[in-house]
Amino acid sequence: MKNLQENKQNNKTFVTQPLLPSLEEYISHLKDIWESKWLTNMGEKHNLLENRLKGVLKIKNVSLFNNGAIALLTALKALDLPAGSEVITTPFTFAATPHCISWNGLLPVFCDIEPGTMCIDPDKIENLITAKTSAILAVHVYGFPCDVEKIEKIAQKHHLKVIFDAAHAFTTEFKGKSIATFGDISMFSFHATKLFNTAEGGCLTYNNDDLVKKIYNLRNFGIQSEEIVEEIGINGKMNELQASLGLLNLELFEEEKNKRAEIKAFYDQNLAGIKGIRVPQMPETATNSYQYYPIVIEDDYPLSRNELYEKFKSINIMTRKYFYPICSDYECYKGLPSSSKENLPVTNEIKNKVLCLPFYGNLDFETLKIICKTLMPVRNQ
Ligand SMILES: Cc1ncc(COP(=O)(O)O)c(C=O)c1O
Repeated sequence: MKNLQENKQNNKTFVTQPLLPSLEEYISHLKDIWESKWLTNMGEKHNLLENRLKGVLKIKNVSLFNNGAIALLTALKALDLPAGSEVITTPFTFAATPHCISWNGLLPVFCDIEPGTMCIDPDKIENLITAKTSAILAVHVYGFPCDVEKIEKIAQKHHLKVIFDAAHAFTTEFKGKSIATFGDISMFSFHATKLFNTAEGGCLTYNNDDLVKKIYNLRNFGIQSEEIVEEIGINGKMNELQASLGLLNLELFEEEKNKRAEIKAFYDQNLAGIKGIRVPQMPETATNSYQYYPIVIEDDYPLSRNELYEKFKSINIMTRKYFYPICSDYECYKGLPSSSKENLPVTNEIKNKVLCLPFYGNLDFETLKIICKTLMPVRNQ
């Protein structure tokens, strides 16, 4: 029975597949760790990865974390936002984004998205600002950059902090600048599903040197020295096993990006003529992180998004309805005034139309052809 189940699982095509180095190379890192007997608490591999990432992400300060959510939680904490204040954010994101706001004792206020990039609509932010607003937490959804310039301008005008959830945007550039350099702090996730992964993991990036010590302490229970605990911190430390995976994957992610670029080109070419399928594209001013391949199923396509999802599932191709449900529809947020459908017309339309197709370097062209063929509308359908 177990074998049967495993076989079935193996026949499935998932939306992504983790980037993995060779097992031999990983074992050689494990040998170093065994010899040093240093498993965590800012070890050698951790510090090496932190320094290397400063170069890759082109940013002055990088703080590694055990996962992206704890990193985001810590970013909001490090900015000392007043208790109970409001943080304007997008409902078109993963649960972690609004949850990190709530776990900090702050109130998420949902803002609508713009249909092109599906990121927060900067032109709808100012209407939501009240005397209680302390920050904007925007997400570079699928690696598409938010309108960082407009968001920073609004924040300056209203004296708000800006945090970017860059979980999907590893190495995206905007107007020739690394996406990691915008806002007060950005967060990257290194979860197994991300282009660059450490199994679980993440980091914060920021220009302000004053935040280095604060974030270092918050990540380690607020411990400043053996006898001094300065802050109410948490355990956000990345361990040596995670960091080793990161060091090896750092050597591989560019090649993975190139393979994904080829897959994207194949999809783009094959889907271009299909009526009712819109493929959102990077703005010309940005480079792609190749994190996801989302498509939008418009009303003139013969099937609904859900019907198409089921059609793929019936042939063992597991697409994902990212992001459905939207965060403002979760039980814990649906009562908020900003969760109303009137406040979020574009998000409520897109949530029923978007579908992420399988997208990873090892995706074979035979499967790709099947995916594209499945998307071709059948005559008289
Ligand atoms: C947009 C977004 N924010 C935050 C996170 C949380 O990151 P992690 O899974 O590393 O905790 C994710 C997740 O994967 C995400 O997609």
